[in-house]
Amino acid sequence: MERYGALTARTYDVLSGEPVYGVGRHLALPALGLRPGQRVLDLGCGTGLNLPALLDAVGPTGTVVGLDRSPAMLEVAGRRRAPSPGRGRLRLAQGDMADPEALREAAAGEPFDAVVATYALSLTPDPARVWRAVTGVLRPGAGVAVVDMARPTGAAAWSAPLARLACRLGGADIDAHPWVVVEPELTRTRSWIRRGGHVRVLVGTWR
Ligand SMILES: C[S@@+](CC[C@H](N)C(=O)[O-])C[C@H]1O[C@@H](n2cnc3c(N)ncnc32)[C@H](O)[C@@H]1O
Repeated sequence: MERYGALTARTYDVLSGEPVYGVGRHLALPALGLRPGQRVLDLGCGTGLNLPALLDAVGPTGTVVGLDRSPAMLEVAGRRRAPSPGRGRLRLAQGDMADPEALREAAAGEPFDAVVATYALSLTPDPARVWRAVTGVLRPGAGVAVVDMARPTGAAAWSAPLARLACRLGGADIDAHPWVVVEPELTRTRSWIRRGGHVRVLVGTWR
């Protein structure tokens, strides 16, 4: 059964735990320092929770491409994040983020100025493979933001079983730590650890 099918897509925004996980996107997206006219790729965009902030940041001359393999999640993203004056163009593309061809189609011949992956890379079996494919559609100097999950630690360790359950329900590997793959290739990195270590944020510049 497709984990991100029609039922999940309809209920995702309410059940995905935004009061816990929203902090990741609220830290990462402004830190990217997006400018009007830029082109941004939102990897595994889901129902588009990142899209309003990205579309506002790139303005009417910019473009945001949301890539996801689930048509149901994309359908919700397209419906809920309708274009409005002052916002960038939105294009939604269906495909696997590990597939270089899907990424090239998403780029449509022009490299991206930034890429965002929030709670998405930990769902893929091989985040390093995804990152290699993504670098094929980034321009040098592109902004990169990775937000993902890890086991809570220290005083928050009591919540580890809940965190593991949330990840398992969402199909994520809590031990994937995808930022580890990306970080060595970035400069000017900034990182944040929130929710007792459960939410990790890495923002930097590629090359
Ligand atoms: C937990 S949701 C996160 C959605 C969104 N980024 C957010 O922050 O709310 C993960 C999304 O990644 C998508 N996804 C998982 N593996 C994927 C892959 N290999 N290629 C493209 N999308 C994928 C799922 O369909 C789902 O919509």
